[in-house]
Amino acid sequence: MTSTDQQLPAPGSTAMLERCTLPPFTPGSQTFDLPGVIRLAQNESIHGPSPAAVAAIAAEAGRAHRYPDATAATLAGRVAETYGLRPEQVVVGNGVDELLLFCAVTFLTGDAIGMVTGNTYPGHWSAVDSVGARRLTVPLRGNRIDVPAVAAALRGRPITAFLCNPHNPTGTVLTAEEVAILVEAAERGGSLLVLDEAYMDFAEPDQARSAAEHVRKGAPVIVLRTFSKLHGLAGLRCGYALASPGLADRLRRVKHVTVYNVNRYALAAAEASLGDTAFADTVRARTRAAMAHFLTAIEDLPWIRAQATVTNFLHCELDWDALLVSQELQQRSVLVRPCADMGFPRHIRVSVGTEEELDQLVAALTEIATELGRP
Ligand SMILES: Cc1ncc(COP(=O)(O)O)c(C=O)c1O
Repeated sequence: MTSTDQQLPAPGSTAMLERCTLPPFTPGSQTFDLPGVIRLAQNESIHGPSPAAVAAIAAEAGRAHRYPDATAATLAGRVAETYGLRPEQVVVGNGVDELLLFCAVTFLTGDAIGMVTGNTYPGHWSAVDSVGARRLTVPLRGNRIDVPAVAAALRGRPITAFLCNPHNPTGTVLTAEEVAILVEAAERGGSLLVLDEAYMDFAEPDQARSAAEHVRKGAPVIVLRTFSKLHGLAGLRCGYALASPGLADRLRRVKHVTVYNVNRYALAAAEASLGDTAFADTVRARTRAAMAHFLTAIEDLPWIRAQATVTNFLHCELDWDALLVSQELQQRSVLVRPCADMGFPRHIRVSVGTEEELDQLVAALTEIATELGRP
């Protein structure tokens, strides 16, 4: 990435303001879809889509010649009902990634500043860079979003801040009080808070800290959610934004460029998935159980450290270069996500697969550790 406009925001601050051009697209090697390969790199669900979603896709099979509903009205209505919002407050997109781009195109105009945290999901900074906006990066503090620093940035001048909650790749989650502090700071500074809640569905209801309640109150907040993770529809691409009627209207004008953005299979499957809460509960419970199983399996291994999260992934610190270990794992047909590009050279991110898959990962890691002289 090239920085063309570097300035420091405030004396003593570790935040950085720069204008960057997008680097060439280099897909990760973690997307191999080969038989026998264990995919623990992309935080996909290994439980597949709900049977109701599969039936809904099949029911649409003969209608491929018809454009999908450009307003995604049925799905937007179902989503709105779920959150106690009005249907016009829901904008449907091809996953959170497309919605991040819609947010950037809509709100990062003129001399706008897009804020992201350091050490984060690349979709956030690439959305900011894609529209040539100035990018303010606020580093994490101890693997968590630095709430006072982000709040100061939101209060200081009007910006659009993109945050993951829960955070990817660290898995940490903001408390309800911290979300409220950020919302209040955005209100005071005339800023906008975009909260990417891609993994919030995995949190048990008493641990979920969605900012949707602030959307209900008309705060300058956009919540992004996806069907890719808990609902197992990553291959179809479907997500939604929750926003005040005014913000949603602005987003929808940009969405209009792509008119029929979300295909009819994705719309039908997403709608069916929302209705199958029993399936979602089962996936959540199985994810929790497999995560606990993995944490027990690594408990006594001195060269790997991880903490439980409310998500479907674990941020694991190793005693070695994570890129090297990931390559070694790949030789053994196990794919994990090295986190060097997100600022964690010794961490891998492990998606919670089945208990058997995680056992195979532990076995492969143990073999590598032995080779590296640390059994
Ligand atoms: C934090 C975060 N946001 C967004 C996405 C992409 O979501 P979607 O598949 O809905 O585009 C991911 C995917 O891994 C993610 O980790």
